[in-house]
Amino acid sequence: MNADAPYGARADRYDAMPYRRCGRNGLKLPPLSLGLWQNFGGVDSADNSRAILLRAFDLGVTHFDLANNYGPPYGSAEVTFGRVLQRDLAPYRDELVISTKAGYDMWPGPYGDWGSRKYLMASLDQSLKRMGLEYVDIFYSHRPDPNTPIAETMGALEQAVRSGKSLYVGISNYDAAQTRDALNVLRTLNLPCLLHQMKYSMFERTPEHGLFETLDANGVGGIAFSPLAQGMLTNRYLKDIPADSRAGKPGRSLAPADLTAAHRAQISALAEIAAARGQSLAQLALAWTLRQPCMTSALIGASRIEQLEDNLGALRNLAFEAAELAKIDGILSSDSGR
Ligand SMILES: NC(=O)c1ccc[n+]([C@@H]2O[C@H](COP(=O)([O-])OP(=O)(O)OC[C@H]3O[C@@H](n4cnc5c(N)ncnc54)[C@H](OP(=O)(O)O)[C@@H]3O)[C@@H](O)[C@H]2O)c1
Repeated sequence: MNADAPYGARADRYDAMPYRRCGRNGLKLPPLSLGLWQNFGGVDSADNSRAILLRAFDLGVTHFDLANNYGPPYGSAEVTFGRVLQRDLAPYRDELVISTKAGYDMWPGPYGDWGSRKYLMASLDQSLKRMGLEYVDIFYSHRPDPNTPIAETMGALEQAVRSGKSLYVGISNYDAAQTRDALNVLRTLNLPCLLHQMKYSMFERTPEHGLFETLDANGVGGIAFSPLAQGMLTNRYLKDIPADSRAGKPGRSLAPADLTAAHRAQISALAEIAAARGQSLAQLALAWTLRQPCMTSALIGASRIEQLEDNLGALRNLAFEAAELAKIDGILSSDSGR
């Protein structure tokens, strides 16, 4: 796209996207949502970031996921998003679901991390300012805090909603027992939990042991993060580690050592199954994640438009034969070298 041209959203953007409800809540999300953890920071190309965001919206992706410290530097992904919002997406604010979170390291001292009311409320105010927003759609507790009573953290989420700074609340990285504790408190506050954001992919199946059951039983939507295992479950690393990839760049959250021999063997075997289904490996991995009944959406990252488009192609085939799932289980359990 021409970086100087004024933006107008495509008229057909809602024609093909099969939106899903967040558990038993009224809000619907696209089955694939875009996360701004990486590729949208102050160190990244603003033109590329804008192009990916606008292409996503044109293709029916209405949900954009942020956190206070996405960047680098911390906060800069919210600044990038706020600029695109002001310049291009402001007329569409009511068509967007924007989330942010607080819970990890953000600023120095005892009030810039974890789960106190002090931190969560100050952080939300900062996020709103960086994005130029009056409210976000979803505010998350980014992780459980063993040293703050769950009633305080959930009370802060409630305060965010009652004060009009967020429409809905969610939790992230809470295990099944911690989730039940949080839901019990939210119930006493008469505040539904919209979403639980968990790490889930073919390479990270922990949520299958209790968490999904808890979400189903309580009508909470699931939203999976890193469904492509940060790019490992794509064609990115089939041959080598490209210099411009997440694993190829120094200091990133994925290191060359994460691509073990066992992973490489699994990736190659999974790529064959994908090819037999007429899908890319990324499409197979996303469809597999979305097969869980509680799963409202999977949160993808993308460093270029082509990846976004490839990933959205997953929605053309989300169905699995039992034999395919069994074959995938077989590949994923042959991982003793990991
Ligand atoms: N709640 C939490 O604690 C938490 C934690 C982590 C993430 N998240 C959320 O989840 C979002 C997604 O996380 P993620 O970025 O790790 O997700 P991911 O989708 O597993 O990985 C994204 C990366 O995979 C590569 N990729 C994506 N599509 C591709 C394709 N079709 N072909 C080849 N390579 C492809 C790109 O890497 P290259 O850069 O190498 O091109 C891209 O940056 C985040 O932005 C954030 O919103 C939340």
